[in-house]
Amino acid sequence: MKKILVTGGAGFIGSNFVRMMLSEHKDYFVVNLDKLTYAGNLENLAEFMEHPNHKFIKGDICDGGLIEKIIDEYRIDAIVNFAAESHVDRSIMEPKVFIDTNITGTLTLLEVARNRKLERFVQISTDEVYGSLGPEGKFTEHTPLSPNSPYSASKAAADHLVCAFGHTWDLKYNITRCSNNYGQYQFPEKMIPLMINNALNDKDLPVYGDGLYIRDWLYVNDHCTAVFKVLQKAPPGEIYNIGGCNEKTNIEVINLILNRLGKSGSLIKHVTDRPGHDRRYAIDASKIINELGWKPSVSFEEGINKTIDWYLQNSTWLDNVVSGDYLKYYESMYGNR
Ligand code: NAD
Ligand code: DAU
Repeated sequence: MKKILVTGGAGFIGSNFVRMMLSEHKDYFVVNLDKLTYAGNLENLAEFMEHPNHKFIKGDICDGGLIEKIIDEYRIDAIVNFAAESHVDRSIMEPKVFIDTNITGTLTLLEVARNRKLERFVQISTDEVYGSLGPEGKFTEHTPLSPNSPYSASKAAADHLVCAFGHTWDLKYNITRCSNNYGQYQFPEKMIPLMINNALNDKDLPVYGDGLYIRDWLYVNDHCTAVFKVLQKAPPGEIYNIGGCNEKTNIEVINLILNRLGKSGSLIKHVTDRPGHDRRYAIDASKIINELGWKPSVSFEEGINKTIDWYLQNSTWLDNVVSGDYLKYYESMYGNR
């Protein structure tokens, strides 16, 4: 049995990854370490909390002593690091915690991985480390890093640290850089669940600037299968872009959501733009497709319908999430726009 430490496994992508591992890969034992910030939610894994191949531990990736204890006690073979502060708007309001978790936290994990000579360290990075594209071209793994927000700068710094540990101490690592994910259990501060939640409640849909910004959307389950392929098959030291070839303007996606929910376009409200807003992301995923045999299995049309249905069927999850911290955050974002 392989034993892996998954960090951030109570968040959006991490919880979907843990669910996939426990459901489909019975030869893996998953220790799930999560600080349970506003974005971490054990309801995301409610049916797996007692699973024999799952151990949840509440804790911080900046706590080196705790990481060492976990690695030794559970004889961990590999780390998959999803834990992060992940929202660009929050990084613009309060960058410090992004530096703490995304850089210092990753460094802490790397130190332990190096000392304990782990078989593999998989860093879950993002396409945002490459910066912004004009109307043509796609990010490849050779595109120079040119991050624009405090979030993406912190992720790029972490990527550099991972490579430096590989170069200096022969740490066996991989880095994945995925485009925008959507799907079940995404916290409704991110565009798709935010627009679904607002439309359901007949609230304004805050579109930043002209709404013609482009993102390359990938259904979260497809991201999870890509990460597993990397963990299982990738040679050490390789970086992989992951994307769905689904470039859409924000306004296209929002109109699709409104149509599906039978809501009026009059809910759309153009608001002040995000400072430093990246215009376009697009991923060339040919390396992971050709070298590891991964490909996305869910089209955007299918994925967005599944996602909207999931939010409709899980109104209690949504209601529980959309309270407390979320409300304060939402008002600080949009109260004065
Ligand atoms: P998320 O915000 O939903 O989840 C992050 C999780 O990390 C939460 O459960 C949180 O409690 C936990 N966490 C935060 N700080 C921690 C700390 N110091 N110690 C331990 N746990 C901590 O994020 P997500 O959208 O699921 O993203 C997961 C990873 O994937 C991130 O590294 C992000 O950069 C990357 N990524 C996200 C996307 C996307 O579209 N969401 C795309 C590409 C890459
Ligand atoms: O590309 C991968 C990245 O995708 C991940 O690394 C990040 O963790 C993840 O949050 C996401 O970043 P984005 O900034 O692209 O996602 P977000 O959902 O915040 O915004 C998507 C687009 O929608 C972006 O152009 C900004 C716009 N937007 C967003 C919100 C929240 C709006 O127009 N209105 C909004 O209210």
